[in-house]
Amino acid sequence: MKQATMTCRPLLISLLLLAAGPGLAGSADPGSQPVREDELTVLLSMPGDPQRGQESYRLCRGCHKADGSGKAEAEYPQLAGQHARVLLKQMADVRAGRRDSPKMNPFIEHGEVSSQELADIAAFLENLPVPSAIGLGDGRQLELGKHLYLRDCASCHGPNGEGDGQRFYPRVAGQHYPYLYRETLESRDRGRRNANPEMVRVLKHYVDSDIAAVSDYMARLRPAKP
Ligand code: HEC
Ligand code: HEC
Repeated sequence: MKQATMTCRPLLISLLLLAAGPGLAGSADPGSQPVREDELTVLLSMPGDPQRGQESYRLCRGCHKADGSGKAEAEYPQLAGQHARVLLKQMADVRAGRRDSPKMNPFIEHGEVSSQELADIAAFLENLPVPSAIGLGDGRQLELGKHLYLRDCASCHGPNGEGDGQRFYPRVAGQHYPYLYRETLESRDRGRRNANPEMVRVLKHYVDSDIAAVSDYMARLRPAKP
């Protein structure tokens, strides 16, 4: 009897190793363990509960505010009304190290929030109304901003800045100017590593004042209600 258990053990161990290998993300019950690989696939397949999300969002209010409006001067993004799929991709990217956010990291690590909580938070935020008080630029280059935006950005971010959740294109309308400015700058200079490569190609030709102009224009856009 004892002999039999001994010989079985190596097989058992290799089976366990196989099960815990790269297939982790596709395991049957993704909510039961921290899934590090391709968390986005898992997040997208989880129905989010806005009511539970409101509870879990307590962790985030210190920076992103209870109404999801963020803080313009501290460059904390406005999250209310952003597409859930965009929020999920960005959170998965930060957790996987594909996007840096040193200030937020300690709050959004795997030990702090579960995948289910993120799915709930995204469902909660997507349904919040976009706040009207938004940080704006100086308003002096709006004609240039409009020209650049319609020529180079609208094809993805939408003519009214509405974005496209299906394709993970963020809504930029009603986002704080300082945040839009910083993210566009970071994308051009490759600091934001998850930036869309096609967008980076376009931005290569932008000087900082072009980025300021287009960011001011984007912040002022207001998409029609879907
Ligand atoms: C200490 C402040 C802080 C806390 C707490 C915090 N965040 Fe953030 N968050 C930030 C900052 C700063 C950024 C912008 C990161 C960058 O510079 O790219 C950000 C970015 C984001 C983004 C990306 C938005 C976009 O438009 O791309 C999401 C989504 C997000 N946070 C969700 C959350 C959630 C959910 C929580 C709570 C679990 C949370 N944050 C807690 C500071 C914070
Ligand atoms: C080919 C499609 C495409 C084009 C063209 C494009 N973008 Fe983007 N943009 C994206 C995608 C996709 C993301 C999200 C990238 C990611 O996954 O982190 C993004 C993210 C951003 C963000 C960050 C938003 C946030 O909430 O964090 C800003 C700001 C931005 N784009 C500005 C611009 C500007 C300005 C232009 C025009 C000069 C432009 N984009 C053109 C696809 C595009």
